[in-house]
Amino acid sequence: MRNSSQVILALDFSDMASTVEMINLTKEHIGIYKLGLEFYLSHGKSGVKEIQSRFSGIEIFLDLKLHDIPNTVAGACRSVADIDPKFLTVHASGGSKMISAASSTLPNVEITAVTILTSLDQEQMITMGLNENIETLTLSLAKNAVNSGARAIVSSPQEVSLLRKHLGEKVTLITPGVRPSGAERDDQERVMTPREAIDAGADFVVIGRPITKASDPKQAAEAITASLR
Ligand code: C5P
Repeated sequence: MRNSSQVILALDFSDMASTVEMINLTKEHIGIYKLGLEFYLSHGKSGVKEIQSRFSGIEIFLDLKLHDIPNTVAGACRSVADIDPKFLTVHASGGSKMISAASSTLPNVEITAVTILTSLDQEQMITMGLNENIETLTLSLAKNAVNSGARAIVSSPQEVSLLRKHLGEKVTLITPGVRPSGAERDDQERVMTPREAIDAGADFVVIGRPITKASDPKQAAEAITASLR
């Protein structure tokens, strides 16, 4: 049976041994693991399949943040179809046709639209000519993505309650940028605790370093998952 934890553990490692070790340490408490560009560009599809064959009880959040013309994104989706991830990320700013191309190519995968990177602030947005405030733009991107077939949205915890209010209950909301109280913030700026993010309407929180860099990752995963029950 799959673990029902609302924590998705971000495995930001390029080496296979550390990735495998972290899953081994935490799999009692975590059911979904995020493999992103660092892992994927080092090990590719065969690396993901190796993880899947070693750990049959976990699900994969494939964080490739696809962003290209619809035809290319559809091709990229076909290329990862046999991995059959639970979630596959695309950038919401790729537009309706790109998101529809992804969702129609992989109807059984939760195409997950990333709204605005939490590393961007209003000042950087204005420099790029994006003068809308971040909340308004996040909501527009999320609505457009859902209307185009995205089944999940990634946003900062600050926008989760707004998205839940406007998108309803069917959309899966996922938020990184969370830290247990008292934990190091690292490079995350506007953080919430996992409990606050879930209370604001998130279905899942994505957490990396508070677990992967903990002296006891198993205990950290257990404590964070327990804080959400
Ligand atoms: O270590 P930490 O908990 O900060 O990891 C958060 C994870 O979520 C990382 O894999 C990071 O790339 C990802 N992420 C994020 N902010 C976003 C999108 C993804 O922190 N807006």
